Amino acid sequence: MTAKTPHPGDLEPIETASRDELEALQLSRLQWTLERVYRNVPHYRQAFDAAGVKPGDVKSLADLAKLPFTTKADLRDNYPFRMFAVPREEVVRIHASSGTTGKPTVVGYTARDIGTWADVMARSIRAAGGRAGDVVHVAYGYGLFTGGLGAHYGAERLGCTVIPMSGGQTEKQVQLIRDFRPDIIMVTPSYMLAIAEEMQRQGMDLRSTSLSIGIFGAEPWTPNMRAKIESLLAMDAIDIYGLSEVIGPGVAQECIETKDGLTVWEDHFYPEIVDPETGQALPDGERGELVFTSLTKEAMPVIRYRTRDLTRLLPGTARTMRRIEKISGRSDDMMIIRGVNVFPTQIEELILRDPALAPHYQVEITRPKNLDELAINVERAPDAGSADAEAAGKRLAEHVKSLIGVTAAVHVKPPGGIERSLGKARRVVDKRALA
Ligand code: DLL
Repeated sequence: MTAKTPHPGDLEPIETASRDELEALQLSRLQWTLERVYRNVPHYRQAFDAAGVKPGDVKSLADLAKLPFTTKADLRDNYPFRMFAVPREEVVRIHASSGTTGKPTVVGYTARDIGTWADVMARSIRAAGGRAGDVVHVAYGYGLFTGGLGAHYGAERLGCTVIPMSGGQTEKQVQLIRDFRPDIIMVTPSYMLAIAEEMQRQGMDLRSTSLSIGIFGAEPWTPNMRAKIESLLAMDAIDIYGLSEVIGPGVAQECIETKDGLTVWEDHFYPEIVDPETGQALPDGERGELVFTSLTKEAMPVIRYRTRDLTRLLPGTARTMRRIEKISGRSDDMMIIRGVNVFPTQIEELILRDPALAPHYQVEITRPKNLDELAINVERAPDAGSADAEAAGKRLAEHVKSLIGVTAAVHVKPPGGIERSLGKARRVVDKRALA
């Protein structure tokens, strides 16, 4: 495996600067951002005026709490380009995320923004253990999704050899991994599992591939999933976080030497945690909804953007910047089953504990008689017999009842019985609206 602790000279000075230095930089960048959005984006001018705040009122980082939030609905209301703070001609790239309903959320980048993104992604890959000269296989989708191109530019910036494979064509993914011998793979954790299965089908020994690092994100995944992937593939599985509205991947990155949550690149993205119900800012250490303010973006700055992702802020360890705990889920993924809040990740943790079950699952919610019903569809492990699988299904139902507090019907399917994702896995199928 690769060297895990970076040499001091490998890091950018800001990664190990003092908190005071970092905060001074954040404040001056915040003030620059606020002046620009107030001047150039009608939405922000109106929102600030309605809240009775001017950019000049923000004299400290704590004053940020005086500013109104920005939500996905604001971006949708200003579709496609009205959140831009520069003339459209200065925007060199558009990305979009495909929301589940209606119009996509559109984001734009100036040439300098593309450079900033490449920088934070290069920093992320380095934090994950990548170095110049490494071969990087990118299996995040290229296109409007930010995963592929974000990873691509960052790996090039770091000085790596990039294989821009994109998502899909699983057989070919495996052929290229076998032939090009990449050191690093960047992909969603769920698609990594599909690639691993295809490797097995082709008779490859999973523990002796060229891959030593996986940089996995774009969807929630649990510590047990990490353990599963690390043992299956003999690699370090490292978490990467980001969202298109803030820049794309590279907002926060786990460091290989600590693997203790994700360092937020706070010199570019200022994090807050708020109570998802009341919007009240919460102190570090408390769980709530993650909110970001961009500090250096030109084309589409965001002020107090509500991510819907649930986590908490923790002090820095491997770097000066604060960390976020692994994202446990999104507030909109939370299922309320007969009054009990359930996240798919809680179910994932229980499935992965059981060696007779495979890490492929989907939960389904229905409402047959005006009462919510939860079904968990999961696969038996390829080497588990059907009697084992039946017993594992019963155990899972018991654990879900005793540890999460809901009744679930568990259906254990044969290997291949759950649809594989080529990108972000769809963990929840909510059929209640159809009832
Ligand atoms: O998923 C950007 C990305 C690409 C991140 C590749 C990491 C790797 P969106 O499509 O806008 O952007 O989706 C963003 O995905 O708000 C989270 O809910 C979820 N998400 C992203 N990374 C993680 C992660 C990209 N590491 C949304 N853990 C975010 C959990 C994640 N959830």
